[in-house]
Amino acid sequence: MIDVKNLTKRYGRMVAVDDISFHVDAGSIVGFLGPNGAGKSTTLKILTCFLSATVGKVTVAGHDVLSESVAVRQKTGYMPEAVSLYGEMRVGEYLMFRAGLREIPRRARRGAVEGAAQRCWLLQPEDMMRRRLGELSRGYQQRVGLADVLLHNPPVLVLDEPTIGLDPAQIRSMRELILSLRGDHTVILSSHILAEVEQICDYLIVIAGGKIAASGTPEALRKSVTGPSRIVAEVKGDPDAVMRGVGAMKGVRQVDQAAHGNWLRITIQGDENSDHRAEVAKLAAEKGWPLRELRKEVGSLEDFFIQITYKQSVQAAGEVSRL
Ligand SMILES: Nc1ncnc2c1ncn2[C@@H]1O[C@H](COP(=O)(O)OP(=O)(O)OP(=O)(O)O)[C@@H](O)[C@H]1O
Ligand SMILES: [Mg+2]
Repeated sequence: MIDVKNLTKRYGRMVAVDDISFHVDAGSIVGFLGPNGAGKSTTLKILTCFLSATVGKVTVAGHDVLSESVAVRQKTGYMPEAVSLYGEMRVGEYLMFRAGLREIPRRARRGAVEGAAQRCWLLQPEDMMRRRLGELSRGYQQRVGLADVLLHNPPVLVLDEPTIGLDPAQIRSMRELILSLRGDHTVILSSHILAEVEQICDYLIVIAGGKIAASGTPEALRKSVTGPSRIVAEVKGDPDAVMRGVGAMKGVRQVDQAAHGNWLRITIQGDENSDHRAEVAKLAAEKGWPLRELRKEVGSLEDFFIQITYKQSVQAAGEVSRL
């Protein structure tokens, strides 16, 4: 449904998007994830014909964004980062105005507005459609922004940080709303919050420094999280003896200690795929150290995200310093 090939966008000498390619299947929800300045909004603007690419080919619903921009705009609903609303207009009035701009036939406009308003929970409270846009809370403004892009029921929705600035309850309702679009619509949304997109998206594309750093289903990305293993243990024993005993184990790279009341909490960083739990338990038993906790910490998707985006920023800094 969306096909991006070798897309590059430069702003003057600055490369915001650097030769990225990806594909989005019809009916899926894809998360575009990356830190600030990664190139998310730039890419989404190109997909929706608000910016032109410097290099590369992008098709949306089978239409080229450059040569068939009218067809692309008809088939996409784009919610930009900052939803700009006309403060003086009333919700219903604004949506009717937007329906007109989208060339929805006069007879069908009221139905389209009511349908979109209902989907975006704008029919409650009762007077919502008569409220002025400038007086709405942030969450309701986002809902109006989303209702606006749903008016012409486009098959492709491009949502740039749809949950930014929302409170947890609003984030949940926005999430449910986006999930309700799955199947009938193809959705690409951006975010820099991993936990959020992980719950909504079928597929994640991680972008950092204008490049794709990783992509895959949330499960596949989670499985690819490796890195050093980490064991946490809490024992009672002479700190020096504990540090010596654990530090002497094969494959242990680093041991850190911290006092937790009468207990000594140690964190063991070991080689990849190593697991020192059995050895720690054995040592504690031999030495007579009471042991109240012993667990292995597995790398989270969040660690992975931070790792790869950090790696990218270090690389980028290296490239700059070589210039
Ligand atoms: N109009 C512009 N002119 C010059 N540089 C720009 C312009 N728009 C964006 N940039 C730069 O391009 C890079 C990518 O910006 P972009 O807005 O795509 O990032 P983003 O991933 O959406 O970030 P954020 O999470 O902060 O929204 C940034 O370094 C930004 O400063
Ligand atoms: Mg952005």
